[in-house]
Amino acid sequence: MDAHDVEGDLEKILLTEEQIQARLTEMAAAIDADYKGQEILLIGVLRGAIMVMADLSRKLHTPCEMDWMAVSSYGSGTKSSGVVRILKDLDTDLEGRHVLIVEDIIDSGLTLSWLASNLQSRGPASLSIAALLRKPEATKVQVPVRYVGFDIPNEFVVGYGLDYAERYRTLPFVGLLAPHVYGA
Ligand code: IMP
Ligand code: MG
Repeated sequence: MDAHDVEGDLEKILLTEEQIQARLTEMAAAIDADYKGQEILLIGVLRGAIMVMADLSRKLHTPCEMDWMAVSSYGSGTKSSGVVRILKDLDTDLEGRHVLIVEDIIDSGLTLSWLASNLQSRGPASLSIAALLRKPEATKVQVPVRYVGFDIPNEFVVGYGLDYAERYRTLPFVGLLAPHVYGA
């Protein structure tokens, strides 16, 4: 899928495929340096993190395993409430493992802060977070995000794993959705 397939639905491209890939290469280098001599358990948060997970993991030289979790925030509307339900739990025991959570975007940070404390209680040797995108709100919550790709404005973005009503995930770039798409 590329820009032609969604013509008119996007206001503009915020991050190109090249920008994303270049930044992921830098993040992978930082992660490799920090985890030298160790093994990482990457935990992807479904479904938004699939693209970041696929590309970031392939840029790493450090040996890693992958596992996945699916969560849903209770609460009405589009804002997450911070009360989280596990839809799919991990298959891996975290005891003694170096765990790195891989996320697409941190908005309010509520989901991630719940997830971090849930996983912390399972006894990992270490727990860190890597997120491709971060919105301004996220800085208000205490989430230990060690690796951030880009700080972006407080606007709704799609592409590269991120959806609006389950669409646009397969775009290779991140774009701003045009207001007419969500009924403005
Ligand atoms: P929060 O940090 O708990 O507010 O929730 C973050 C989750 O909301 C992310 O993992 C995304 O699934 C979703 N989300 C937040 N902002 C956006 C956006 O701009 N586009 C698409 N999904 C988003
Ligand atoms: Mg997500």
